[in-house]
This record gives sequence, C-alpha cells and structure tokens, in this order.
Amino acid sequence: MKKETVLSGIRPTGFVHLGNYFGAMRNWVKMQEEFDCYFCVVDWHSLTTHPDTKELRESVLRLLSELLASGLDPEKCVLYIQSHVPEIAELYLYFNMLAYTGELERTATFKDKVRQQPDNVNAGLLTYPVLQAADILVHRATKVPVGKDQEQHIEMTRNYAERFNHRYGNVFPSPTAFSYDSELTRIMSLDGKGKMSKSENHMVTLYLADSDDLIREKIKKAKSDAAPAEPNSVKPDSVENLFGLMRLVSSPDTVENFEQDFNNCVIRYGDMKKQLGEDMVKFISPLREKARAFRADEKYLNQVMSIGAEKARNSAIATMELVRDAMGLKYFALKS
Ligand code: TYM
Repeated sequence: MKKETVLSGIRPTGFVHLGNYFGAMRNWVKMQEEFDCYFCVVDWHSLTTHPDTKELRESVLRLLSELLASGLDPEKCVLYIQSHVPEIAELYLYFNMLAYTGELERTATFKDKVRQQPDNVNAGLLTYPVLQAADILVHRATKVPVGKDQEQHIEMTRNYAERFNHRYGNVFPSPTAFSYDSELTRIMSLDGKGKMSKSENHMVTLYLADSDDLIREKIKKAKSDAAPAEPNSVKPDSVENLFGLMRLVSSPDTVENFEQDFNNCVIRYGDMKKQLGEDMVKFISPLREKARAFRADEKYLNQVMSIGAEKARNSAIATMELVRDAMGLKYFALKS
C-alpha cells in the first residue's frame, strides 16, 4: 500500500529553538519511519523578512546541520532546500490567481509582520501562505506536521487545493496539520509572554545552539510566581510553562515530585529551575555538539542537499505535469 505523503518546512531565519524542535522536528523524526516524507529548508520564505542575503548561506547550512543532528536521516526522508526546486515557484504563480487579497490581508501572521516591519510590507509577505501551499501541494502531501501557529496557513492550503480542483479538475488532496500529540504544540517563551520564537528576546528563548551555562542562566531567570497559598491550586501560566518544559525533558519521577511539592504548597521554584536547567542541558548539549560536527562536514552537507534536490524535483515535476495538463497549458502535441 502506498504510504501517505508528508511535507513540512522551516525558515532559515535564525537559530533553531525548542518551539521548532517540539512543535515540528520531533514529529518529523518519528514520521520519517512511517510515511513518505519531504522536509524543506524554506529559504525563499525567509526573504520576506530577511532581504539581506549575506548570512543566508550560513543560516541554511547551520539549519540543515541542526535538522540532521535532531535525527532526520536523508536515507529515510527527502531533505532539501526550497530554492533547489523551481517547480514550487511555478505552482506559487498559479495559486496566486486563486488567492484573494482580502483573505491574505486577514491572515494572522501577515498582520503580525505588518506590525513588526511597517517599512517593508512587501507582496511576498502578503502571499506568504500561497508559497507555503505550493510547498505542500507540489508533492501532493496529505499530512503537514507543524506547531499551532501554522494552523491557519494549512487551512488556506486546503482552500487553494479545493479551488484548483473545482476549477481545473481533481489534482490535489486536502492536507491537514499533524502532530502525534492530541493537539498541535505551542511552546511558550520563558517570560510566559507569547510563543517562543526566533526573532523575539533571545534571553527568553532556548536555542539548540546555546551553551550549557547560557541554558542554566536563561532558566534561572525564567518567570515563576509566588508559591501557592492553598493546596491543589491552579497553576499560574508562568509556572505551568516551567512544568510544561519539565515534562518535555525531565524524568516522570522528577516531574511528579515537583507536582506534589506544588500541590502541598512547599514548592521552591529555585530548586525546580535548577533541576530543569540541568535536565535541559542534558537534552540540548548532545544536539548542539552533533550539529556542530555536521556543520564542519561541508562535503556531506553538499551531498545531502544535492540528493534531496534531485528527489524533491522528481516528485515536483510529476505533480506539475498533472497541473499543466489539468489547466490546459499544453499547446502542442508531440508527433509520434
Ligand atoms: P517556522 O520556521 O517559523 O517554524 C518551523 C516549525 O516550528 C514550529 N514552531 C513552534 N511550535 C510550537 N511552539 C512554538 N513556539 C513554535 N515556534 C515555531 C512551527 O509551527 C513550524 O512547524 N511558515 C512556516 C514554514 C513553512 C512551512 C511550509 C511549514 C514554509 N512552507 C510548508 C509547513 C509546510 C514557518 O514559518 O515555520
């Protein structure tokens, strides 16, 4: 039986953080064992916010190294760079005719970016979800492993697929956002204000490249709260956030001990953060060191990119044949 096709992407706009890891990459590593997977470093998307390309090469190679360090295996999945697959740009162009400016202007991520970069509200930013739809549908993927923040984009992808099918005939499936957890993940920043993200304050974001001391320092400074006054109280958001991180990297016994301390009103957040800092160091440092080793092996990275490009293009070329056929863009027949 044919396996389901999976696609997901990540922007090379900064260092990979825990939100990326637990929201997306952890699922990708698991999915490569089960599905036909395509994972993509979306360098074109990064140009919507980072037009200066001086550091792009380094960012792409570093990100690729971090993806490999996290467990993506180029023998088990197709790992490639978006700009190596020009067919994505062609599909983006067709989808642009099926996307309405009103709905693009209402997209939450677009509104955020307009606030963040009022001097550079470029058309690429507006049509960002259209390019994302092309990434997904160029492989006719059905599952898209992403964090909670990407949900709206996947819904828009379904709209474009349906509009295309309705207008030109059935070419595309209807992809859905995916997580092995019961809900899509949203990792909060260490100050409890909003989601962890690449561009926000670096002291409230944990990166896979952070040194051991920096990890300890960031967690020490993370927001906590006053100890609860009554047994079995509801945890304030910042405390729930610390517990959430602990559940990801500490042993179940450790979490249980601190849960009991909290419920019995004897919790000492200093101790909890110290333990969390140590467990986080144990979790992050091997990933950091593996990524460093991959980054030092440029010959291997080149090989990974070129094998990935070829496999991804083969899949994209096959889809574009169907797309052009359905759209009636074939104007001459080859004589036999
Ligand atoms: P990007 O590069 O911002 O993030 C990559 C992945 O990390 C997830 N993520 C989070 N998950 C949980 N908590 C957080 N705090 C957190 N921060 C980031 C994101 O949900 C994402 O899954 N538009 C996409 C890139 C993209 C894409 C695609 C994704 C382009 N084409 C096609 C899927 C399919 C983005 O900006 O991700």
